[in-house]
Amino acid sequence: MEKAGSKILIIDFGSQYTQLIARKIRESNIYCEIYPFNSPVEKIKAFGPDAIILSGGPASVYDKDAPLIPAEIFKLNVPFLGICYGMQIMASLAKGAVKPANNREYGHSKLKIIKETMLFKGCEKSSLVWMSHGDIIVKNPPGFAITAETENCAVAAFENPEKKMYGLQFHPEVVHTACGRKILDNFLFGIVKAKGGWKLEDFISRKTDEIKSMADGKKAICALSGGVDSTVAAVLANKAIKERLKCIFVDNGLLRESEAKSVMKYYKENLNLNVKLVNASGLFLKELKGVVKPENKRKIIGKLFIKIFEREAKNLKGVNFLVQGTLYPDVIESVRVFGASSIIKSHHNVGGLPKKLNLKLIEPLRDLFKDEVRIIGKNLGIPKEIIDRQPFPGPGLAIRIIGEVNKRRLDILKKADSIVTEEIKNAGLYDKIWQSFPVLVPVKTVGVMGDKRSYESVIAVRAVTSSDGMTADFAKLDYDILRVCSARIISEIKGINRVVYDITSKPPSTIEWE
Ligand code: XMP
Repeated sequence: MEKAGSKILIIDFGSQYTQLIARKIRESNIYCEIYPFNSPVEKIKAFGPDAIILSGGPASVYDKDAPLIPAEIFKLNVPFLGICYGMQIMASLAKGAVKPANNREYGHSKLKIIKETMLFKGCEKSSLVWMSHGDIIVKNPPGFAITAETENCAVAAFENPEKKMYGLQFHPEVVHTACGRKILDNFLFGIVKAKGGWKLEDFISRKTDEIKSMADGKKAICALSGGVDSTVAAVLANKAIKERLKCIFVDNGLLRESEAKSVMKYYKENLNLNVKLVNASGLFLKELKGVVKPENKRKIIGKLFIKIFEREAKNLKGVNFLVQGTLYPDVIESVRVFGASSIIKSHHNVGGLPKKLNLKLIEPLRDLFKDEVRIIGKNLGIPKEIIDRQPFPGPGLAIRIIGEVNKRRLDILKKADSIVTEEIKNAGLYDKIWQSFPVLVPVKTVGVMGDKRSYESVIAVRAVTSSDGMTADFAKLDYDILRVCSARIISEIKGINRVVYDITSKPPSTIEWE
């Protein structure tokens, strides 16, 4: 796709902050993409970047298998900004030296600017920056000027303007770096002289035209989940090809209380989508009977969903395209610096339909991050109830019912979910935390209710803060909110006599219990 304005390429060495760099650049209306460090040079050249940013990463440049890039990339004659590990790569390729630091720096450090430079234009002489490194540059490469230092890091920033190379040991993309925004903008506009052309406002008309010419009179289908991504993708496609788009919403019975009904209402009445509701709750419950292992539940739900969708798709004759809400983070090839990672959970979502459907893909959100999709969604007039909803896993409540999923246990969890959601909303926290939900635990404990002994099940409440779901911290909810949740769950739901709060972060736990 042709992008208006400048293009920045971020080469990823596995930093947890790489996507954050991309987000910050796009906030300045500059288009950027992320490529893994081992991308072929031809691919990098073909992208035609106006500047290259080398991300941080967990490796050390002196490691035997350290991820590096061919020196040829530096001959592209565009400005380079190396961040943390990226700076150390620059240093070592330019004949400097990197060694383990005596004092590692993690967290805030005080940066002192020691040389006036374009990169630091308008920044305070001394300010807090975010550091996260165990190595330091012990020998500054020839031709590079040191521009800033911290107490434990003599080369906290360097540059060689002649070679258009700039390096920062700290992370300008992280909010804790006071002058981070300014530094990135100085790089983009002062050094690269980038032209902003990446405007979300233009996105809707651009994409609608693109889908129109791609679908060219043909029909498309789309699986809706009730979530933001599939809804925004469908509404965009609907704008482009109108009645030639058919949507399918599979109610697997594992959704929240009245969710299928309310989502269908939004789809039809507010968004004018041509959507068919397939009620398959009985089928899902039947297949899940007696299943307790999380991975088995996930696989059964994923497979059954695909089976139903395929059947529906076949019934619609003459369909050529499948509209999917794939996002940019799903597209970025993940960088695995330290070996292959193990499968923690088999994710199921409506974005992962199989190739054997033999349909061409329309993925209008492939270039976007989640918060950009939310902005587009708002501009498209999609109701707040869909746009700002907390993430909900494809396998639904089944993975929040520990042990067997059956109608009785589903009903208990649905009621508990309504209470937790209502109380979190009442406290004004729904949009502030990543997720909040109850989990039904297959444990019975003794209680006393109305002077009588009870022996009932336990509900665990889980609420986490997170920026991307990859890591999370348990939310430090006010005790009063927890007290109200607990009291309401026990008094309003038969079969529960104890409520506990999950106080683990991710890692070591995951957000969902299964
Ligand atoms: P975990 O439990 O792995 O969850 O820490 C991270 C985030 O992913 C969501 N999640 C899923 N989303 N299909 C999805 O679309 C799935 O199978 C799935 N499993 C977990 C989870 O709710 C959290 O936001």
